[in-house]
Amino acid sequence: MEKFVIRGGNPLQGDVNIGGAKNAAVAILPATILAADKCLIENLPCISDVMASLQILSELGASIRMVSRSTYEIDTTHIISTEVSNELSRQMRASYYFLGALLGRFGAGQVAMPGGCNLGPRPIDQHLKAFAALGAEDSVEYGQIHVKAGSLTGSHVFFDTVSVGATMNAMLAAVLAKGTTVLENVAREPHIVDLANFLNMMGADVRGAGTDVIKIHGVQKLHGCDYSVIPDQIEAGSYMVGAAITKGDVTLHNVIPKHMEPITAKLRAAGCEIWEYDDALRIRRTGELCALKIKTMPHPGFPTDMQPLMTTLLSLAKGTSIVTEGIWENRFRYVDELIHMGANIRVDGQVAVIEGVQELHPAPLRATDLRAGAAMVMAALAANGVSEIDETIHIERGYENIVEKLQQLGADIRRVEIPAHAASRAM
Ligand code: EPZ
Repeated sequence: MEKFVIRGGNPLQGDVNIGGAKNAAVAILPATILAADKCLIENLPCISDVMASLQILSELGASIRMVSRSTYEIDTTHIISTEVSNELSRQMRASYYFLGALLGRFGAGQVAMPGGCNLGPRPIDQHLKAFAALGAEDSVEYGQIHVKAGSLTGSHVFFDTVSVGATMNAMLAAVLAKGTTVLENVAREPHIVDLANFLNMMGADVRGAGTDVIKIHGVQKLHGCDYSVIPDQIEAGSYMVGAAITKGDVTLHNVIPKHMEPITAKLRAAGCEIWEYDDALRIRRTGELCALKIKTMPHPGFPTDMQPLMTTLLSLAKGTSIVTEGIWENRFRYVDELIHMGANIRVDGQVAVIEGVQELHPAPLRATDLRAGAAMVMAALAANGVSEIDETIHIERGYENIVEKLQQLGADIRRVEIPAHAASRAM
């Protein structure tokens, strides 16, 4: 086990390269199954969720060749198994995308109930509703979800709730189904559009991604292609908060400024200066931070995955901020850690009321989940003195080389191995 040791107080300054989007990559990798061919996927982030997805593909029978740290060639021609092993599917939430992809190609799939961050109940009823509409049956036995279908036929699905996962899974299952599928009330996140672009590059006919209706004309066969994953909106947003909270000046490269708009709008309102270029953004904060009202919503609203980071930033803003979590039931668990650092935050259900304080103090901290962990890193960078963050495994699931990238920006941060006996005492 590892922990991060951070001596806060240095402003983040300089340039940072943003990696490929985790939440696009974890859907695009299973989607390669549908090609039954060779795909070259570029701009994959080097994070544990991507490594787990590659390992699942390999266990199912795909051949994987690493071309560079961020590029892999994946040949899914000879996949033989439709069952994802327990251990790997429980490692990450996104293992559910293997259900849609395996169902689409083989008419059957099995994964264990997926793991991932604990943000409250994470049902998959909408995924199963879409599979059922296409003609599949599902069953859950001993924690395993099985789906199977004689054949899949295009259908009309109106989702009861806007779900990123259900939208992507329905797309995966529908591209090879007979006839036309219409998906309504779908998610519109940049990674939905990215998956649709990738499927279309493989020969699928997916239209409307990025709006709330997606129409898919099933095709008989897909083929391999070369594809580059979009940059990670949330990784970029996290470094923007890092610059803002440390009174820094950072230029982010390999970003799509359009995807950042819900985040840049709020950071500007909080008092940051932001310059947008073709595929870069610069953020600088010199003055005081202003209090804000934020409610997280599906895209193009303010992303829930930025909520812990913005709440952390607003804990240092002048006045009273209100942050309402509109997606997940339990995404304020990290607030206790900020309170240990001297923040003044009250949480009532889905609403956090934040009275800005002058400074945060160093403290022993815990990464309660991926984005909360990133928020703790940014809080520690802002606090004068040494903080230690435990359970960093959550952070490494979604942020490639976070320690090295922050060091390059001038942060005093180290990854420290916790000896096994000390780690077991801490748990
Ligand atoms: C994706 O999760 C992301 N994960 C999450 O990011 C992100 O927070 C979330 O979308 C919302 O943007 C991945 O892409 C791997 P949802 P997902 O289905 O797909 C309810 C991160 O930090 N719902 O859009 O699981 C659900 O309970 C992670 O990178 C149902 O009721 O989220 C929630 O309230 C954390 N039934 C809402 O919809 C369903 O069948 C949105 O969930 C599915 C979802």
